[in-house]
Amino acid sequence: MPLPIKGKTPGICQVFIETIPGGSPGCSLLQGALGHYHAVQVAETQPAKLAAFEGLFETQQGAPLIIFGIPDAEAGRTKMEIALPKMLSFVAFGDFNAEVKGLNDFPRDEWPPLAMTFYPFHLMVALGLYFIALTCWGFWLLIRNKLYDNPLFLKLAFFSIPLPFITNELGWIAAEVGRQPWVVYNLLRTADGVSITVPAYQILFSIIMFALIYVVLFSVWIFLLRKKINLGPICKGKELGLIRGLQYDHITDYLVFSDSGFNYRLCSVGWL
Ligand code: HEM
Repeated sequence: MPLPIKGKTPGICQVFIETIPGGSPGCSLLQGALGHYHAVQVAETQPAKLAAFEGLFETQQGAPLIIFGIPDAEAGRTKMEIALPKMLSFVAFGDFNAEVKGLNDFPRDEWPPLAMTFYPFHLMVALGLYFIALTCWGFWLLIRNKLYDNPLFLKLAFFSIPLPFITNELGWIAAEVGRQPWVVYNLLRTADGVSITVPAYQILFSIIMFALIYVVLFSVWIFLLRKKINLGPICKGKELGLIRGLQYDHITDYLVFSDSGFNYRLCSVGWL
């Protein structure tokens, strides 16, 4: 099914396309910095989670940062490991020789589920680095006025739209599964925090209802969005061609959006 937006009103679409490489390298880099801050905080407060994030079994000074690997809880090691030596110690404690506790230093029943912590965490970080690379590449193309000459970038940007949502979920899974078996680290186990007044079927019912409500809301949103895009903006005043010609600073007029031909809304685009 062709996208309704394809080939329509390219002028106004360009404004939005250009905000991506224009604004998001900063956001992606900030996300990386925040991620680093998260890691430091996890190293201090939840060392077993850090060991599971990294598939680190043995306590080590100068612990490596594992970029790829297959953690095997039974064998007690991470297989096919590709690692940056000493980097975990540095990232977590700011010291290449700092000691990082491995999983073997924790009782076996205090280990988080390993695969469900390790893989979501690594995928989140990989996607975070991908966002930094993609947005910086876009920024580079934008300042060289080559953004629209690079179909590979445009395609990647388009197909990457769902990825930040997926990354959010991966981060959440890593954080929540990674702190098991504790609700409050070292104080209250999840098993002891279970409510005795709310039975499991009521929680299941709530989850199903929430899921259904969100599916309905999402479908209505897609329906309305498609409708709006199909109608498209109607431009009065200066031609949108000007936007195409990158003369943004000359456009201080109004864009008029019309639903039906009678129902006008005025939007100031003075910032253009
Ligand atoms: C660039 C590299 C990244 C690093 C190094 C990083 C690091 C981390 C760490 C260490 C945690 C665990 C926090 C905890 O358990 O308390 C975390 C959680 C999380 N991350 Fe990332 N992250 C990165 C990128 C991203 C990106 C790009 C997104 C979203 C688009 C994201 C979304 C999240 C979310 C939603 C959580 C869960 C927060 C919570 O529930 O407290 N992360 N991240």
